[in-house]
Amino acid sequence: MKKPLRKAVLPVAGLGTRFLPATKAMAKEMLPVVDKPLIQYAIEEARAAGIEQFCMVTGRGKTALVEHFDIAFELEATLRQRNRVEAMEALKGTQVEPGSMVTVRQQVPLGLGHAIWCARAFIGDDPFAILLPDDLVLSQTPCLKQLADAYQETGGNVVAVVEVPREHTNRYGILKTGADDGRLVEVQGLVEKPAPADAPSNLSIIGRYVLMPEVIGHLAKMERGAGNEVQLTDGMAKLIGSQPFHGLRYEGTRFDCGDKAGFLEAQIAFALARPDLADAVRAFLKKY
Ligand code: UTP
Repeated sequence: MKKPLRKAVLPVAGLGTRFLPATKAMAKEMLPVVDKPLIQYAIEEARAAGIEQFCMVTGRGKTALVEHFDIAFELEATLRQRNRVEAMEALKGTQVEPGSMVTVRQQVPLGLGHAIWCARAFIGDDPFAILLPDDLVLSQTPCLKQLADAYQETGGNVVAVVEVPREHTNRYGILKTGADDGRLVEVQGLVEKPAPADAPSNLSIIGRYVLMPEVIGHLAKMERGAGNEVQLTDGMAKLIGSQPFHGLRYEGTRFDCGDKAGFLEAQIAFALARPDLADAVRAFLKKY
């Protein structure tokens, strides 16, 4: 019997060095795309996939991420008093069910695999999703919902994948592929950041995963991989052969918002998708 997918882990303990100085005193995941912080896009996407329990893996200086999903009593009382209906409406997506969001601390950023291992008590024996909030996906069906449906179909691990130019394989986790129906592809191996010449394919993992809890046992060994970090990719690779493991070519466009150019492109794409902003943005883009 497949266990239902109800839990998501959101690792937000990275240093965000590519966005300094913006991220000196503020978490990268609080950077807004148009008018919403990256973390809120991730929480809304998770909710749309049926997730009910959230665990943010945070680090020092990340308190704003927690505050964002709390009740801002003074602000809300003032808005109500002034009858600012639209502004109150804008806060709706920041409300979470009491008790549905927990945080754990990753005291030292030892890598994404280590961050996930820090959430082991939250994960317990259940399947869980991972969303990296700096990967933003613009799509018809929310990306994690597509993965959750694929989990229903396959009953095992599923990661969202996309083809990348071969010269960029050293930036991502890359698949060694088996049977491939053009949408779902069987994963036979996983390598973190291989040099283009060594990459087994150009199919890369983006920041959306549905994993089985057994990955934690592998991460617990704290083996260091690429960049001397505890890599999630290496932990996942150990599951291959004992559990179903697939890559899903999701429908949608991914923006790497951890990177300056990707972040700027996301601003434009998300603004153009907004009826209240599209015309204004199109007009100024012409000007430049
Ligand atoms: P990145 O590779 O983007 O690293 O992490 P980063 O530190 O956030 O940013 P840069 O490269 O210094 O600019 C990918 C994801 O993994 C999380 C990050 O918060 C991000 O969501 N992460 C990474 C952790 O939570 N802990 C870690 O030790 C490393």
